[in-house]
Amino acid sequence: MSSKNKINHFFHLASFSTTKSHITAVVLVTVTARAAATKTTEMVKAIRVHELGGPEVLKWEDVEIREPGQGEIRVKNKAIGLNFIDVYYRKGVYKASTMPFTPGMEAVGEVIALGPGVTDRKVGEVVGYAGGPMGSYTEEQTLPANKVVPVPPSISPSIAASVMLKGMTAQFLLRRCFKVEPGHTILVQAAAGGVGSLLCQWANSLGATVIGTVSTKEKAAQAKEDGCHHVIIYKEEDFVARVNEITSGNGVNVVYDSVGKDTFQGSLACLKTRGYMVCFGQSSGTPDPFPLSVLAPKSLFLTRPSLMQYTATRGELLETAGEVFANIASGVLRVRVNHTYPLSQAAQAHSDLENRKTSGSVVLLP
Ligand SMILES: NC(=O)c1ccc[n+]([C@@H]2O[C@H](COP(=O)([O-])OP(=O)(O)OC[C@H]3O[C@@H](n4cnc5c(N)ncnc54)[C@H](OP(=O)(O)O)[C@@H]3O)[C@@H](O)[C@H]2O)c1
Repeated sequence: MSSKNKINHFFHLASFSTTKSHITAVVLVTVTARAAATKTTEMVKAIRVHELGGPEVLKWEDVEIREPGQGEIRVKNKAIGLNFIDVYYRKGVYKASTMPFTPGMEAVGEVIALGPGVTDRKVGEVVGYAGGPMGSYTEEQTLPANKVVPVPPSISPSIAASVMLKGMTAQFLLRRCFKVEPGHTILVQAAAGGVGSLLCQWANSLGATVIGTVSTKEKAAQAKEDGCHHVIIYKEEDFVARVNEITSGNGVNVVYDSVGKDTFQGSLACLKTRGYMVCFGQSSGTPDPFPLSVLAPKSLFLTRPSLMQYTATRGELLETAGEVFANIASGVLRVRVNHTYPLSQAAQAHSDLENRKTSGSVVLLP
């Protein structure tokens, strides 16, 4: 029985055992004080960041977990998705609102308690969330109920945790930010990465000609399997010259660029007239500032989108996640959980992601 329920239980006993209201009040005060005194602080294991820096700042610690409040649920995590955004927060590229903080933007787990006012979730249900609030690198967490979505029973927690944030990103990039259609030619930078792998599979199924860049032969083989019609090893080849050759000098309709600093200028050069530059990440660093007039010769469009703004409403969140789950069920998306690590070894996982040793998705297991 939770501490809160204990208080309610004692209150009922006290109320029934006396008829005089002032005695009831005294008994209630005594009982409430006793309940508070016996309330034990519940602890779980989590990764904490006390100072910004390299992977070594990720510490495995005991943290207190609170009961769910109004509109909240408590979830026991089964699998946690690792995303490049976790590296940005750890290093301070993006600023966390508190210090110390628990990183992580994505997890799948079982609902183990409901706060007051939660009517659309059930204890025992498996739910997932992606995109905030931050704090998923933990055995258990308390979350706003309206931020989670139910995970279909046909999808395992590991698969779901590896695809929610990355798959929803692929959804908004391909279907809403720039709408890919049959006949389009697209360029996906880092095509063997977590998001890249899903972008290529999905774009291929939409009828686009997909060009992908990767750093190694092994990643090139994966990108081919994922539906890339042309793969460029950008560590060995000039990707701008190769795109020019592949498109017979026409350029591509859209570039999905998550690499940032190292590829930004080249990506602009790959676009056709009135093409779309979708700069959605900066794995190699933030692109250098540039004058707007750079866009003028080809009347280019430029956007720097974020998943949070494309899943801002409950309706958008459910629709976006629903489309991802449907594409897994239909076989459009074959999710690659290429790497799993115990949650306690998140530092190693971060190091491997940053050093370009991973491909597909990385999952942390509590
Ligand atoms: N805007 C949004 O809403 C949103 C949402 C999700 C993700 N993202 C962005 O999407 C990108 C991919 O995220 P992810 O979690 O799926 O990671 P990921 O693509 O699996 O990993 C990053 C990949 O980027 C490539 N890369 C190129 N230069 C790099 C460098 N200097 N350092 C590290 N990696 C480099 C590497 O692939 P190669 O070895 O093949 O070069 C690496 O494997 C990230 O930039 C992330 O911020 C944005």
